[in-house]
Parts: sequence; structure tokens; C-alpha cells
Amino acid sequence: MDTLAPVTLPPAPVPAPAGGLFVSFEGGDGSGKSTQSRLLGEWLTAQGRTVVLTREPGGTELGQVLRREVLHGGHLDPRTEALLYAADRAHHVASLVRPALAAGSVVVTDRYLDSSVAYQGSGRDLGADEVERLSLWATGGLLPALTVLLDLDPAAGLERMRAREGGPDRLESAGEEFHRRTRAAFLDRAAADPGRWLVLDAARPVAEIAADVRTRVADLLGLDAAAPGVRP
Ligand code: TYD
Repeated sequence: MDTLAPVTLPPAPVPAPAGGLFVSFEGGDGSGKSTQSRLLGEWLTAQGRTVVLTREPGGTELGQVLRREVLHGGHLDPRTEALLYAADRAHHVASLVRPALAAGSVVVTDRYLDSSVAYQGSGRDLGADEVERLSLWATGGLLPALTVLLDLDPAAGLERMRAREGGPDRLESAGEEFHRRTRAAFLDRAAADPGRWLVLDAARPVAEIAADVRTRVADLLGLDAAAPGVRP
């Protein structure tokens, strides 16, 4: 027979286990995700919460190996690239994110599934729905309770990247049109699901952005956003 077996749909997205909170930061390169993740982590720690700060790709030992290959190895075709990010995510969720959430921690990740949908789905043209299905399958349907989009003009992000050591990686050097598509994809996804997303202008001062993030997270955790913590 020539016909392919029917495609199995991924499981419906499931919420994070009770007690923990799963937060992701998304945005273009140079938008300040790691700074904001760190500031949120410091403030939550000052509130007595256990925080796990992590990132994709590369949040685990295996992930480090995958990160090196996918960002600094030789040419990869887009499907291979998408599968490597999905493999990194599957292992990250199974070995680190889910256990931490189950233990009641706040998990803050610098990039998650929405990066694949934007970069591989729209940037590389693989199709947003297909790439999302792949990631939902890889993670057993785990979505963050909150995704903060640090939105920035790609030209401004590139300017910030140039000031950094090490030079651009493979994705960073993918060209202006690619980065315009990924930015539009992030904004479209955010507009379609405002309950999960918080969109912030990443060109604003760091302290102002951090305060807006705190307000939303405090609301989710029943904390006082004005409570003292480490100030940016
Ligand atoms: P990131 O760790 O944010 O880069 P850096 O630490 O250098 O600021 O992300 C690395 C690159 O990987 C970034 O260009 C976006 C890309 N990426 C994808 O294309 N798909 C994905 O699923 C993820 C998680 C990242």
C-alpha cells in the first residue's frame, strides 16, 4: 500500500502541575530576555520562592551538546534544525522543567516552544502549525502559564548583539527578512492568546520592563508586586 498512516494529533495542552509556575521569555536576539529572567528570578527568590532559571536550547547537559551543534555547527536543513530544537525541548521538559514544577518551583525559561514556532515555523518557512504540533508532542503538551514577549525592532536587537563578545551565531546571522518574519510571528501568537502572553516594548528602560513583569507574576502567585527585592 502507498498510503501513509493517519497523523496522530498531539495531546491537548495540559497546565503545569499545581504549586509551581512556568514562565517563559521570548523575543528576538538582543531583546534582553536573559537580563529580565535573572531580575525576575532574583525578585521571586527574595519573596521566598524556589526559582529554577533555565534556557533553550541548552538547559541540560544533553541540551548543551545539541546547542553547540544547532548554533555553531555546520549547515543544517530546516527540518533537522527543527527536530534538534524539539529534542532539546523534550529532554529539558522531562528531566528538568516538569520535576521542578512538581516540586512547587517557579521555572523561568529564556525561550521555549514559541521560539520554534516563530524561528523554524515562520522564519524557516516550515509552517507554524506543524512546528507547534511537533513541540507539543515533544513536551507532552506543556505550555507556560505566562509568556513574556520582549518585542524589539530586529535592527535594534542586532545593534545590541554587535556590542557583545563572540559574534553572531547561525540564527543571528540569518538576515533581516528572517528576523522580521519571526518578530511578526511572535506578535501574531501573542495577539491570539492574550491570557498567556504579556507583550512589552523591549526598548524601554530595564527597570520599567522588570516592574511590569513583576506585576503580572505577582498576580499569578498572589504576591505583592511592590514587595522589596533586589532592584535592577
Ligand atoms: P539564545 O539562547 O536566545 O541566544 P543567545 O544566548 O545567543 O542570545 O537563542 C539561540 C538562538 O536559537 C536564537 O537565535 C534563536 C534560536 N532558536 C530557534 O531558532 N528555535 C528554538 O526553538 C529556540 C529555543 C531557539
